[in-house]
Amino acid sequence: MRLHQTWAGTLSLLTCLSSQTFATEDTEPLENANHIFNAIQSTLRHYGSEINYNGLSFYRASVPKGTQFYHGTGLKDPIQGLEWLAFKPEHSLGFAHRSGNKFFAKKDLQQPLDEYTAPEWDGNGYLHTYAAAKDLRLLYIDGMSAGPGGGAESQDRILYNNTITGDRPVGGPKIGGPPQEQQRAIEACRMAKEDWGDKIDGIVRTEADFEIILCNFERDLEVVHITQTKPQESSGRPGGPGGGKGRKGHHGGGPGGPPRGPRSGLKYWSLATRFDESLGKKVRIDLDNFVSAYTYGLDLFPNNATVPKVGHLPVEELQPIRQDVFKLLNTWDSPIDAFDWQTVIDMIVFQYSDELKSLAAGTYSSAKELRDHLEKLLEPFIDYRDFDNSEVIINRCASEWIPLSAPVGSLGGNAVRSVARSVCSTLVSAMMDDEQDLEASVTSFNDLVSYLRWTTWAADE
Ligand SMILES: *[C@@H]1O[C@H](CO)[C@@H](O)[C@H](O)[C@H]1NC(C)=O
Ligand SMILES: *[C@@H]1O[C@H](CO)[C@@H](O)[C@H](O)[C@H]1NC(C)=O
Repeated sequence: MRLHQTWAGTLSLLTCLSSQTFATEDTEPLENANHIFNAIQSTLRHYGSEINYNGLSFYRASVPKGTQFYHGTGLKDPIQGLEWLAFKPEHSLGFAHRSGNKFFAKKDLQQPLDEYTAPEWDGNGYLHTYAAAKDLRLLYIDGMSAGPGGGAESQDRILYNNTITGDRPVGGPKIGGPPQEQQRAIEACRMAKEDWGDKIDGIVRTEADFEIILCNFERDLEVVHITQTKPQESSGRPGGPGGGKGRKGHHGGGPGGPPRGPRSGLKYWSLATRFDESLGKKVRIDLDNFVSAYTYGLDLFPNNATVPKVGHLPVEELQPIRQDVFKLLNTWDSPIDAFDWQTVIDMIVFQYSDELKSLAAGTYSSAKELRDHLEKLLEPFIDYRDFDNSEVIINRCASEWIPLSAPVGSLGGNAVRSVARSVCSTLVSAMMDDEQDLEASVTSFNDLVSYLRWTTWAADE
């Protein structure tokens, strides 16, 4: 009887695999749970953000008071107002070196020319080290949100409602960056003040480094120290990590230089990746309640696109997302006390990534051999007095990495529980069903792998 139910459950599961949603038996199916799961795992990490470079989610984030950040410039005095902060000094050194190089400073459109013709520019470069003067409250936009290519699509279409034209802003504060970046920064800080009740101090995004657009340097930072950087040659490209194209391009190098994802051949769990993940932890993100374009019933993969897109959708369709981002920020009344779903996701992925790949590759030569292997894998979740109770086995398996104290019913929690259940129910079904032949089981693992699209497998594709 129980076996029969399991088999019926498996059938309905397999039918659902081809669509974007994945049905589970006792929770509402969460649209795009697989993509939301992967997005959470990649928050403030270059590895996954470069694979799914179009981030589609907006999160509340905070930085503890005292955390250090960097800014490279041609100015020796503390910055007033709006500017960029880098997470590591190598990145800012590049901008300081450019400023201390008259050839580049004059030509460089990364920085407005006026800054260097202003009387206070003394022809040198300076590295400013700052510390947060209070707990900073920020909006984090995921994916390569300050990177090249389509990474800025979600903010331009959703947050900025298509108003980023690429024209250099006239009047207003003088800040660094190419024209469209200046527009984004100025508009974000205007919204922070006028639309978000002055609750937000800036925006966190990912480029070659991680960065913060901070709206009010003198209010929110204390100066740790300001150093004059090494004078640069008057021609040629300034050296050093963070030099060259700065926030426009990808560049690795230097101690702790950003890993570049699997395409550059870096191992997933390399030292550079671990450095990068720890660097991202300067910011704490609310991974429970956030706004994601994945949950609005939109066609995000037009013509079977391999990465999600919003560029083809009329802005009117994106308005509900924009409104929910505004609401998320406007209702931010207490400090973030977010549960660390990223670590839970890591454990699920580390545990099953190689296993699922191997199962999908058809490693086992008979249905019996496969079932014996799965039984060994699932033994921690089986009570042999009640072997046939597949539902209980699935539940134990799916909750292994989820503490009992974890929040229930949040977006992040729902995505994690849904994906964990997809993994465990596929494994348990293949173990329990004596009638299922080897080919059907291998197909179910392949369907699962296609659905999950874990970033750990991206290098195999
Ligand atoms: C967003 O842009 C559309 C199209 O230009 C416009 O009709 C709409 O009023 C804008 N929405 C907001 C909230 O500014
Ligand atoms: C998308 O992929 C599905 C399944 O492979 C295929 O049937 C469909 O024709 C594709 N659609 C487009 C527009 O390419």
